Amino acid sequence: MLSAQQTIGNVFFDNQHPSIGDCRDELLAGLRQSQKTLNPKFFYNEAGSKLFEKIMRLPEYYPTRTEVKMLQQYAGEIAEVCGQGGVLIEPGSGNSEKVEYLLKDLKPSAYVPLDISADFLHSTAMRLGDAYPWLQVHAICADFSQDWQMPESLPQGNRLVYYPGSTIGNLDPDDAVSFLNRVSDWVGNEGGVLIGVDLHKSEDILHAAYNDADGVTEAFNLNALHSINPLLDANFDAENFAHKAFYNQDKRRIEMHLVSQSSHDVKCGEDVIRFDAGETIHTESSYKYTTESFSDLAERAGLTRKHGWVDDDGLFSMHYLTPA
Ligand SMILES: C[S@@+](CC[C@H](N)C(=O)[O-])C[C@H]1O[C@@H](n2cnc3c(N)ncnc32)[C@H](O)[C@@H]1O
Repeated sequence: MLSAQQTIGNVFFDNQHPSIGDCRDELLAGLRQSQKTLNPKFFYNEAGSKLFEKIMRLPEYYPTRTEVKMLQQYAGEIAEVCGQGGVLIEPGSGNSEKVEYLLKDLKPSAYVPLDISADFLHSTAMRLGDAYPWLQVHAICADFSQDWQMPESLPQGNRLVYYPGSTIGNLDPDDAVSFLNRVSDWVGNEGGVLIGVDLHKSEDILHAAYNDADGVTEAFNLNALHSINPLLDANFDAENFAHKAFYNQDKRRIEMHLVSQSSHDVKCGEDVIRFDAGETIHTESSYKYTTESFSDLAERAGLTRKHGWVDDDGLFSMHYLTPA
């Protein structure tokens, strides 16, 4: 069990993890809806974080390698546009692999990785602390969709939120606007947001990316049940569910579901959730944007697109946004 706060060398680790009671209510509310839903944050127990790392390396999963190539190509220009020496905050930092392409150019006074996956975040923060002895790493384990505390000990200076991986696409557009609004508050009037956003493209490319031949995305999706079992004191059996991912043309999003293979009951502590055969739990959406539709969304959150980058194949985009 990780302690609440810990300082080791240049790494400060602050565990603000939400209590299990909060998760239970949220999980049960989702599972009681007519379309059962699960917030994608519940994918990320330690096994889920490791499976996502594997997804990032899949040949079918174009977003990571495309975004990394853009970072390699544009890191210097990004630093010119976003400014150097500020506090760099990354919500949903995962393995922090992408930020490493920016550190040399951005030269942040501190890096704040913020993630819900405690052990994974801890080992990532320790690795970064070792690799970059000049960098203050203030790792925060928290649910960024709820209240969390920015460390008081952060250096002064401009703040830049880095939000890669098109994680913004996991939110329905209205929720994405609310999230960007909150992000705007974290950075203040002088700050900015550097964000990676997946673009519209052929349905074949999208379908393959979420239905890889090795079944890693399937394992990631099914692992959500293992992740929530201890939180709900539940007996979900992954054998009773199948992975399904498809492009919803109307909503311009990939949808991932877990499909119940039979009619059965799942005990969740004192509660029971009933499944019909074929009924699904909607586990994740991944919205796709155009440069214009994403700029419009950012405007709704009071953010202006100051600069943008698109890769040569038009698969992925990055945007620098500032408070209007
Ligand atoms: C799609 S992965 C992206 C990882 C990394 N930023 C990248 O681009 O490769 C999403 C990350 O966000 C984290 N995450 C998801 N929902 C979260 C939440 N509500 N609060 C904090 N972290 C969250 C997950 O643990 C995971 O590491």
